[in-house]
Amino acid sequence: EIGAHGHFMAKEIAEQPETVARMLRGRLDTRFDTARLDGLNLSPRELRAFRRVKILGCGSAYYVGELGALMIEELARIPAHAEAASEFRYRNPIIEPDTLYVAVSQSGETADTAFAVREIKRKGGQVVGLVNVVGSTIARECEGGIYLHAGPEIAVASTKALTHMGVGFALLALLLGRVRDLSVADGQRIIAGLERLPADIEAVLADEERIAGLATELSSADSLFFIGRVRGYPVAREGAQKFKEISYRHAEAYQTSELKHGPLALIEESRPTVAVIPDDELTDRNLAAAEQVLARGGRVVAISHPGVDLGPLDDRRVDVPRNEVELDPILLMIPMQLLAYHAAVALGLDIDKPRNLAKSVTVE
Ligand code: BG6
Repeated sequence: EIGAHGHFMAKEIAEQPETVARMLRGRLDTRFDTARLDGLNLSPRELRAFRRVKILGCGSAYYVGELGALMIEELARIPAHAEAASEFRYRNPIIEPDTLYVAVSQSGETADTAFAVREIKRKGGQVVGLVNVVGSTIARECEGGIYLHAGPEIAVASTKALTHMGVGFALLALLLGRVRDLSVADGQRIIAGLERLPADIEAVLADEERIAGLATELSSADSLFFIGRVRGYPVAREGAQKFKEISYRHAEAYQTSELKHGPLALIEESRPTVAVIPDDELTDRNLAAAEQVLARGGRVVAISHPGVDLGPLDDRRVDVPRNEVELDPILLMIPMQLLAYHAAVALGLDIDKPRNLAKSVTVE
């Protein structure tokens, strides 16, 4: 039921505070300050034995997988990488016995991801799923997993399912961390951060009108850059993906650090940049890069945190609440959803069914 929202995408963005709260229910173990993920079917001893994590997904799920890899490296200190399942399946991948493979998919039906799961299993690897649709192909073929419980997602452009994937990875990282060296205090800190997420998402959504204004401005550009660094880079990749999918504007994500190694040549007033500038150890470097864009006549919309002094970028800023540094990217993705959505609204496009795209690609 689309309700008063006009589009499924708007409805799905709006319901995130509620669906995330539901997803967390019963999964936070405040006695041992860890995550309760019984569906994984992995004992603490098995969880401890993994020396590597490999995450596989397609499109937006792959980008959130990159965020997941960072969370796992930060919280559990296990080397973790994400790869597009569509590439992995075709390159005769090396499957290692001490690697935990994680397949991430909203629909659970994406052919490339399902094939990757089968390939891993055929070679004796251990694979779990982060899947939304209960009983879907990938959910059935994995040996265990974490259901995302985002509810049905109808709009082709994924929003709430991606947020739930981010939360799923945070839970997995917390669990992997707490069977290793993540302290009780850090476990408590992450749990408290997760508990704050629904209210924090609500706060971003409350700023929708401002974001819509900026989106309308961006919608007139025929090409955009989305830049971010480390945790901000998957956010930028997802931001560019969403924007191009529904506004049909060319959008390209770049690591902020790589800007000077190429794309700076293309900066001009008609090609704006959306820059992820969180309050973290890289704020100054990110600011300096964004100022270089301004100096070349580019326009910049900054996705940032309250209290960051953005100087000349201040009039085009969007602030998301500061949570815990490892979880911040989940919140930084929310304005990206609204920017894409409102740009497409401004352009009068078919938001829920963008041309040439399917909700899940179940064929080769
Ligand atoms: C793409 C969709 O084809 O598949 C994306 O257009 C989606 O929106 C991706 O993120 C992966 O889908 P799923 O269902 O495996 O998460």
